[in-house]
Amino acid sequence: MITLKNVTMHRDREMILDGVNWDISSHGHTALLGLNGSGKTAMLQVVTGYMPPSSGEVEVLGYVRGKSDLREVRRHIGWVSSALSERIHDRDTALDVVVSGRYASIGLWEPTTDEDVALARERLAFMGCERLEDRRYAVLSQGEKQRVLIARALVSRPTLLILDEPCSGLDPAAREHFLEFVEKLGTEPDGPTLIYVTHHIEEITPVFHQVSIMKDGRIHAHGSPQEVLTHELLSSVYGLEMEVVRRGGRYWPQTATVVGATAG
Ligand SMILES: Nc1ncnc2c1ncn2[C@@H]1O[C@H](COP(=O)(O)OP(=O)(O)OP(=O)(O)O)[C@@H](O)[C@H]1O
Ligand SMILES: [Mg+2]
Repeated sequence: MITLKNVTMHRDREMILDGVNWDISSHGHTALLGLNGSGKTAMLQVVTGYMPPSSGEVEVLGYVRGKSDLREVRRHIGWVSSALSERIHDRDTALDVVVSGRYASIGLWEPTTDEDVALARERLAFMGCERLEDRRYAVLSQGEKQRVLIARALVSRPTLLILDEPCSGLDPAAREHFLEFVEKLGTEPDGPTLIYVTHHIEEITPVFHQVSIMKDGRIHAHGSPQEVLTHELLSSVYGLEMEVVRRGGRYWPQTATVVGATAG
């Protein structure tokens, strides 16, 4: 599904991706963790063809960098990300944004059909946003924007669905509702393969069989949730004493004190 071999990316003399090796099969969904600035979104922009790497091998859904136009792969990928949100034009309405997901474009450049609009309305309603359809995307609240982007990602019936911090800005009830929906989507026989980026390990529901952690522009750890969501590994990555308790099939962080800090 995705194979990255020794992928590097430099910008402004900064090393953003420093030899990424990542292999994601179509069997099973992956959660991706890592500190701010560790390279998660950059790596996913390489996967979605929005940012070219400086070197390395990239293969996504059979598209190979250098042999095929990697931008074509976007038609098969749903992407929910603040990086996408920032690219949306101010004048577009919520409905325009959702319809544009059918064409994997930012903005609407092709004539739309009644079917596109009907499907977009159905997805907006599914996300509880039908009353927002005529409102400009630019004026929506953060949680509303997030729901609209999720509706957009779902109209293309993607093979791969990348959710980059999809719950940021959602209230607690909306978050749980959304996580239930992710569970359902992840167990559908013809549903997309999911990649779920988060800073909150409790969002990693049992539907995720693999967890990757990025650190300093590399994949630092990859394995099953049991292997990766451990006190040792999380504490070393975050520099926090992180106890993890498993409850209801999910992992909950219990304490988070800075490593080396003494109680006062
Ligand atoms: N186009 C660019 N030009 C210069 N620097 C960039 C560019 N894109 C990303 N970076 C830098 O690369 C690093 C990795 O950014 P990235 O957005 O991938 O982090 P992240 O792991 O997604 O972090 P977060 O958890 O905060 O979303 C950051 O230091 C960022 O400033
Ligand atoms: Mg990011």
